[in-house]
Amino acid sequence: MHFGSPTSGSWRTWQKSPSNAKLRSPATTGRHGLGTPCPPRHHPHSAFCFNSNTMRYAIIGTGHVGQALAKAFARQGIEVAFASRRSPEALTPVAKAIGPTIIPHSLPDALQADVVLLAMPFKAYQEVAQATESWPGKTVIDVTNAYGISSEELGNRPSSVVLAEALPGANLVKAFNHLPAAVLAEDPRANGMRRVLFLSGDEASAIATVATLVTRLGFVPINLGKLAEGGLLVQARGNSWGPLIFQDLFQQAK
Ligand SMILES: NC(=O)c1ccc[n+]([C@@H]2O[C@H](COP(=O)([O-])OP(=O)(O)OC[C@H]3O[C@@H](n4cnc5c(N)ncnc54)[C@H](OP(=O)(O)O)[C@@H]3O)[C@@H](O)[C@H]2O)c1
Repeated sequence: MHFGSPTSGSWRTWQKSPSNAKLRSPATTGRHGLGTPCPPRHHPHSAFCFNSNTMRYAIIGTGHVGQALAKAFARQGIEVAFASRRSPEALTPVAKAIGPTIIPHSLPDALQADVVLLAMPFKAYQEVAQATESWPGKTVIDVTNAYGISSEELGNRPSSVVLAEALPGANLVKAFNHLPAAVLAEDPRANGMRRVLFLSGDEASAIATVATLVTRLGFVPINLGKLAEGGLLVQARGNSWGPLIFQDLFQQAK
């Protein structure tokens, strides 16, 4: 399958140039570059145009896994917004220590990204869901594990299905959750091999978007299928882990 090769967008340019605020406003900027107008009402809830080949990424959660993901983005020089409940200023030291492409943002600003990686505790999902109305059309990567949350609390559904229902119009893909943070932080390419990541989701186009990202980060994506089918292999709940969680597999690099 051909997944394309989007390049990262420019958070810094869009967010941090108050002197160009008029030219760079949502109505005139989009992702085409300075001064290129977005089609009117191109996307009902977003400041950005969706018809260029650039992608903007955000990591929500700046703890163990959030930082491990940020290291993977930094290794490839891919710009990514980095956010939690704390202010961007409070996140600056840790972001700076990881690399120059890790850009602290407020939570609502970060949630304007095209692809959002959720790396906060599962129980925070409702709070994050309510932090923006821009979910329609977005690709959301669920990195959470609902370990310790009972099946009854989840309505006997996979945790990713519960999360997806809280994000109206978003296309959710579960990924990056099956490995410990310290392993995720390592370079996935070693000794002629590449580390495997499992993807599952109900929307083929979102799986393709995430597969492209995963490949750019140096991993090998393996599609498990729908959340409630193959995706069950990487779901945690109650006191159980899906059978593929903690399976650290490698594939020969091509
Ligand atoms: N640790 C692992 O090895 C591992 C591996 C795979 C998956 N996971 C999963 O990844 C998720 C994060 O685990 P972790 O170990 O990285 O946890 P962690 O170190 O405790 O970090 C959690 C992060 O989430 C942020 N956060 C909490 N509530 C939030 C909210 N309402 N909105 C935005 N940000 C919020 C916290 O920042 P503030 O307090 O500043 O908001 C913190 O940066 C969990 O779901 C876990 O199951 C963990």
